[in-house]
Amino acid sequence: MKKYSISFAALLLSCVALAQPGRKETNLSKWQFSHDQLSWQEVTIPHDWAIAGPFDKKHDLQVVAIEQNGETEKSEKSGRSGALPWMGKGCYKKTLHLDSRPEHAELLFDGAMSEPRVIVNGTEAIYWPYGYNAFRADVTSLLRQGDNLVEVHLQNLEESSRWYPGAGLYRPVSLIITGKAHIDDWGTYFHTLQADGLQADIDVTTVVEGIADGETLAVEVSLSDESGHVAAAAHQDVAANLPEIHSTLFVKKPRLWSPEQPALYTLTTTLLRNHQPIDKVSRKVGIKTVSVSAENGFCLNGQSRKLKGVCLHHDLGPLGAAVNKAALIRQVRILKDMGCDAIRTSHNMPSDMQMQVYDSLGMMVMPESFDMWIYPKCKNGYARFFKEWSDRDISNLVLRNRNHASVVMWSIGNEIPEQGMQGGTDIARHLQDICHSLDPQTPVTQGMDRAEAALKTGFAQVMDVPGFNYRVHKYDNNMKQLPQGFLLGSETGSTVSSRGVYKFPVTISDHATYSDGQCSSYDVEYCSWSNLPDDDFLVQDDRSYTIGQFVWTGFDYLGEPTPYDGYWPSRSSYFGICDLAGLPKDRYYLYRSQWNTGDHTLHVLPHWTWPGREGKTTPVYVYTDYPRAELFINGKSMGVRTFRKPEGEVVLSAPHLELLDRYRLRWNDVTYQPGELRVVAYDDNGQVAAEQTVRTAGKAQTIRLEADRTTLRADGNDLAFITVSLADAQGTMLPAATDRMTCRVSGAGSYKAACNGDATSLVPFTAATMPLFSGQLVFIVQAADHPGDIRVEITDEDNPGLKANLVLKAQ
Ligand code: GAL
Repeated sequence: MKKYSISFAALLLSCVALAQPGRKETNLSKWQFSHDQLSWQEVTIPHDWAIAGPFDKKHDLQVVAIEQNGETEKSEKSGRSGALPWMGKGCYKKTLHLDSRPEHAELLFDGAMSEPRVIVNGTEAIYWPYGYNAFRADVTSLLRQGDNLVEVHLQNLEESSRWYPGAGLYRPVSLIITGKAHIDDWGTYFHTLQADGLQADIDVTTVVEGIADGETLAVEVSLSDESGHVAAAAHQDVAANLPEIHSTLFVKKPRLWSPEQPALYTLTTTLLRNHQPIDKVSRKVGIKTVSVSAENGFCLNGQSRKLKGVCLHHDLGPLGAAVNKAALIRQVRILKDMGCDAIRTSHNMPSDMQMQVYDSLGMMVMPESFDMWIYPKCKNGYARFFKEWSDRDISNLVLRNRNHASVVMWSIGNEIPEQGMQGGTDIARHLQDICHSLDPQTPVTQGMDRAEAALKTGFAQVMDVPGFNYRVHKYDNNMKQLPQGFLLGSETGSTVSSRGVYKFPVTISDHATYSDGQCSSYDVEYCSWSNLPDDDFLVQDDRSYTIGQFVWTGFDYLGEPTPYDGYWPSRSSYFGICDLAGLPKDRYYLYRSQWNTGDHTLHVLPHWTWPGREGKTTPVYVYTDYPRAELFINGKSMGVRTFRKPEGEVVLSAPHLELLDRYRLRWNDVTYQPGELRVVAYDDNGQVAAEQTVRTAGKAQTIRLEADRTTLRADGNDLAFITVSLADAQGTMLPAATDRMTCRVSGAGSYKAACNGDATSLVPFTAATMPLFSGQLVFIVQAADHPGDIRVEITDEDNPGLKANLVLKAQ
């Protein structure tokens, strides 16, 4: 990598040295940013101008009826899009110095929120309204030798989103300079025609641009495995009148990509003139096949499997929309340990960084495109652009992502109102056809929420994969009308809970709210349109026509604080299996007990520190994959519980409450007394297999710190997530502590952000002092771009003298 001078001016001036001829890709990370174009601030992108806050009810305060939630009357919705200052205008600028005028140059944006207008040396190079999409601008004719000014103007309108969209250049931007004749980055299409353990047949399309008339060039494609060994190669001529070529590669004994074995190959495409390379592009690809059928459902590499997926919004909690690799990797690690193998990027295009992480760590992905088409879900949403832009947007989604090994399905929409309207089916077919034309290998789906309407209009029947959101009790009936012979739970769950908060009495409810703005972690609360995890487990377990599910959601996200859409302060969701800080809620272990088939799960709830609840009924639930367990309170047995599976076929109903004893072990009549709650799990032979003990906590004695990683890359971007809690003299965590904790960082790193998972907290994420919520919070520390020790000091502001230190390494 080229090193730049570290003076202030030079930081803003990326010098791009041109190797002539050849390709030079420069990540444009240093920019100046301004809201008013009067005062400028130096920023590093990915950058989200709104995430530092402050939170305020006034930001995007909406008085609306949320039709999707069945509302018919307008009411005030305060935290719907996160209550952060993401609206308004923003401008980024930077100077690019070029030693000479390039033969060909493109700016590649991985997404810019939103409505970006890119101006180069005073001339508009491109406008691309959809903030989530990647786009490229050919800026060859606008660049000159010497200094070039690049500006990006953005604007975010109120009521344009149903969740927090973020703001600014929140994903990377790069400048790609090549010779006149060059490989078209998005023209390459690597796909597996067939593969088994013996051989894979692969087709690679290559498009070359800018070939002079009458000239013949050559293209070499080669595929090398993880050890660098060339597994297959092909060589072909290419000319101006035939700029697209197809190469066939045969790979012996291929290593197929899957979530369990995410084997990647490197595809290198070289363009040659007179045997001399003039352009070269390398990318990671995977060999895999995907199919869907009535007989075998969803198959990856010929093996039937049900997708154990989660939906994810794009924000990274306290980091906002600014994409960060370490944060994405952490998310995937947490999800994989739960047994999750798939992600739906709801409801928009993923970042390339995200896709790279999914490719290499092994997550199947359904990249999604739109939350609305022509009929708006909010006043200023994408419906303003759909007619003019949707073909280009869906094309860019597929072109940008089709070579990612992790893609298993495209989604053309979420709960599109047109599913029940005249003309809707034609649009669905049209969008699906575009996906097919650019990627014939990958099936196409969308999430439908109005099954009857979508089936009546034929909207559901045209899809490769009919996806239904919630309403599992309608699945059997849907199936009768689906020629496909299978269906996907494209969105499931939407159970609500707040980590570590338990409400009494424990009541199953589809509309519970409380004065503290929290939901119960007994995992018994959901919404009028949604359900509990147990219902989804049932249809996946008992109905062979289901091909899997995507739970709403893997992590809490900013905005959409249902069931507190109208309650202030509440500004982030309760749907997550993990909270906004990435800390698992109890529900995580319920999914883990069903999905993680390689490791055992034994999790007990609630916590056992309840001063004032002595003598009161305090139910105990256990989430486990063991067949039975016994509960002891202070050594006294409360009995053995076994999972209860009803006899015969279960008729689907809504909601399906007797199910709770099929997937959870419950002791509903436990009386709270302080001390020790011990669960002993037994295996099929009745032998003790595992134990878990929860104790009543005493006074705080120590601060406990758990860093997800202790050695970071010294690249100025890498992050460590440090979970902070208080423990008593016996090491029991204080589950209700709310002490304010302060984080100080020195040495080769800096303080980045904090989050405690409390959806009602108005403490800015960038504040270095934050209260614990249900006894925990996460501090995020960022590595510097030079090696050294990162010293982290945590102090308890409410318990003078309580301190803890941690030393991380940047290297
Ligand atoms: C769905 C919708 C999601 C989210 C969810 C909340 O209907 O597709 O975006 O709003 O409800 O339950």
